[in-house]
Amino acid sequence: MEVGLDTLVALAKRRGFIFPGSELYGGLAGTWDYGPLGALLKHNIVRLWWQYCVWEREDMVALDSAILMNPRVWEASGHVETFTDPLVECEKCKGRFRADKLDDPTRCPECGGALGEPRAFHLMIEAKVGVLDDGSGKVFLRPETAQGIFVNFKNIVDTMHPKLPFGVAQVGRAFRNEISPRDFLFRAREFEQMEIEYFVRPDGWEAAFEVWLRTVRSFLERVGIDMERVVEEEIPPQERAHYSSRTVDFNFRYPFGLDELLGLAYRGDYDLRRHSEYSGVDLRYREPGVEPFFPHVIEPSFGLDRLVLAVLLSAYDEDEVGEGKRVVLRLKPEVAPYRVAVFPLLRNKPQLVQKAHEVFRELRAHHPSVVFDDNGNIGKRYRRQDEIGTPWCVTVDFQSLDDGTVTVRNRDTAEQDRVPIDELPEAVGLVGS
Ligand code: GAP
Repeated sequence: MEVGLDTLVALAKRRGFIFPGSELYGGLAGTWDYGPLGALLKHNIVRLWWQYCVWEREDMVALDSAILMNPRVWEASGHVETFTDPLVECEKCKGRFRADKLDDPTRCPECGGALGEPRAFHLMIEAKVGVLDDGSGKVFLRPETAQGIFVNFKNIVDTMHPKLPFGVAQVGRAFRNEISPRDFLFRAREFEQMEIEYFVRPDGWEAAFEVWLRTVRSFLERVGIDMERVVEEEIPPQERAHYSSRTVDFNFRYPFGLDELLGLAYRGDYDLRRHSEYSGVDLRYREPGVEPFFPHVIEPSFGLDRLVLAVLLSAYDEDEVGEGKRVVLRLKPEVAPYRVAVFPLLRNKPQLVQKAHEVFRELRAHHPSVVFDDNGNIGKRYRRQDEIGTPWCVTVDFQSLDDGTVTVRNRDTAEQDRVPIDELPEAVGLVGS
């Protein structure tokens, strides 16, 4: 079902997925903190991404570059010159808005006052490094992870000797001074990207682009995105980023409307050529018998926080089972914070608690994603585990002490089966995962 954003935000907070950033001090707009369950969910998405986009392939290498970079990087990349949004200010209430996101860019959406002329507002966040106050230490917090890959292109080629086509993958923080951070994780000032720069021969980009379209689709399915809510959009030339000559946005139907989830861009040889010019270092690719040339680049750029949001929105459901009405997150087991919860039927019966601990430890030996839960009664535990998306609940009861079986409850159907403890790891999908 399609849930409203307020309901999801409340669940995310109540269940320890996502908290407002710096909440104790009144918050900081555009920042979010991932709580214990959100951190696990995010980690699992990242792990699946590495697995699917890097480890299962033979043409990818990894990178983890610094957030702070020499400011010349951002001159070469074009960000200093062009990385702006149109800002308008209300003459009456002084509110500030992004002109391109307003239905009527002449009227204030909050007080109805007249809006001034749009001006270009720079999105990079500045920081200062070093001890001098003379401006020489001015740096930017990177607005995309991609440039770390381009500036390391030569290092990677010289050390790893990859053959074209090959890709470089990196996951990391990015920062943008968004004019109006909004809609929960959707538009934040600090967020994470999972980016790939895939280097191809100049005449090979079209075929590679098609393959990446398919790869992105199947990754989204694998991570649990409701594909009926995904709409691919071919971006027209006037709306593409300065470096791109083909971009397909993967849009998702959020509660606040259809908007970007991730982008797939053809960046041509823009970045390597510009970094060669600005640094004076030849970044052309060399191979025997061919003139050195700049490889062209296909860039799948995933916003991790938007993926978390879309995964949660896709998974959210409400239904009625034998035990009554409930909220359930139908997360894929691979991304759920916990795959299995183990309970003793009653917490005041030491034999049950001890046996449940044994089962818990046994399952943990197969996979760390197992939680022990003895809070509240069994009905409350099911509610809680459904709401955080745990696919299986295992209950140790008195029969377990006699015959070595436990009840296994399936999150999606709420049906229960009795399973011998030694068959449990397989029954709850912990073997070979
Ligand atoms: N290297 C290309 C690049 O950065 P982008 O479309 O500006 O392209 C890529 O950003 C992805 O990063 C977006 O599709 C989105 O998922 C995510 N993203 C961008 N700005 C964001 C923000 N303010 N908050 C959360 N995610 C954001």
